[in-house]
Amino acid sequence: MSGVIRLVIVVLAINGFFTYIGLFLLPQAESHPPKEVKIEEGITVEELIEIGKNIVFGKGQCMVCHPVKEETGMRAPAISTIGALMEREAKERGIPFEEHVFEALVAPGNYVSEGFANIMPPVHKPPIGLTKEEIVAVAAYLQSNGSKVTITFPESLKILEEVLKKTGG
Ligand code: HEC
Repeated sequence: MSGVIRLVIVVLAINGFFTYIGLFLLPQAESHPPKEVKIEEGITVEELIEIGKNIVFGKGQCMVCHPVKEETGMRAPAISTIGALMEREAKERGIPFEEHVFEALVAPGNYVSEGFANIMPPVHKPPIGLTKEEIVAVAAYLQSNGSKVTITFPESLKILEEVLKKTGG
């Protein structure tokens, strides 16, 4: 046999050997696409908070203005303590905590947090345009930053709808 043919046979054999290992002996890498949790009946508070967090740091564009931690000269209240801040404000206003949180999101101009300008856009209108379900998730996440989470889905939708009616949609 010529040297070239022998070489080809060796190469093919080695190739086949590694193909065999790859196919049958190595554990197959499974792909696990992240499970998408929908905001629907049966969702847990933890899942709701996680979705809310993703919206705040993503499509909600909240971080354009809000810093994560308190800093000097910040344009908007820090997210990491916003639950505690709103709980205090709700007490001062003498209104339910949940109502204050929803109002802060859909009618931010109605109560402007002390020391800040009235520049926050309502989150249910363009350009942010969150759905009611998303607003409930965001509200639960905000509460989880320094206060007790009392907002749940779908129970709290009713409160949001009342706030929307009261503030003119
Ligand atoms: C254009 C800048 C801007 C964007 C974008 C913005 N905010 Fe604000 N936000 C502010 C400012 C300024 C304040 C303080 C004045 C006020 O209360 O309206 C505020 C206040 C708030 C309050 C009330 C805090 C309190 O103590 O009552 C909440 C809650 C809030 N923002 C959440 C959000 C969330 C959630 C998003 C994203 C979906 C968002 N904001 C996007 C500027 C912004």
